Amino acid sequence: MYRRLFATLLAHADGAQHRLYGDLKRELFAPLAGTVLEIGPGSGLNLQYLPDAVDRWIGVEPNPHFHGYIEKQEASGRFEIATHEAVAEELPVADRTVDAVISTLVLCSVDSVERSLDEIRRVLRPGGRFVFIEHVAAEDGRWLHATQRAIQPLWCYCADGCHLQRRTHENIQNAGFSEVDITHRSIGTRFNLVQPHISGWAIA
Ligand SMILES: C[S@@+](CC[C@H](N)C(=O)[O-])C[C@H]1O[C@@H](n2cnc3c(N)ncnc32)[C@H](O)[C@@H]1O
Repeated sequence: MYRRLFATLLAHADGAQHRLYGDLKRELFAPLAGTVLEIGPGSGLNLQYLPDAVDRWIGVEPNPHFHGYIEKQEASGRFEIATHEAVAEELPVADRTVDAVISTLVLCSVDSVERSLDEIRRVLRPGGRFVFIEHVAAEDGRWLHATQRAIQPLWCYCADGCHLQRRTHENIQNAGFSEVDITHRSIGTRFNLVQPHISGWAIA
């Protein structure tokens, strides 16, 4: 029941997501081609940003209530799509079989960031690209950091397991990719609790 409600609420917030992250996604996804796997695609709102060089998309979305939204998003038939009810910590694809992996606002919610990153490296072909936009912990000592800490238990409950204070940039740096490029950025208003963000890419 709760997961159905979360899926409905998030799918109806797609407009705000496009305004906040659309330009960045267009830029980040521009080099992607071939087979792309996306972890936690939610309603599939990232599909419209994929360039024509992508010919296959695999979605790994544990909440089945999102699956119908994903099918509606990709009605154009630009590429083949397959959605799996599975988790990032156990990706349902063979080693070295995908050209790129996408994660936007997902590593805050997975049970294990380390295991998810190990899996992403396992499925990427050598030279394959992991692209991401994530929110991370505010700087220690700032009002935002203290507020995030205070609200975390309630937030986690209401936002389907989302953690406000992960240091995902450090996990990505330490995950064993051959090259990593991370930009720290502020997206949205300064009163937004889901701040700051990181975006970038890592090469397997
Ligand atoms: C905040 S939503 C983000 C959805 C979408 N990527 C976006 O940018 O709007 C988090 C998503 O991660 C999914 N998720 C949660 N735990 C996951 C896991 N262990 N593996 C893969 N996806 C997960 C949720 O079901 C949800 O779709």
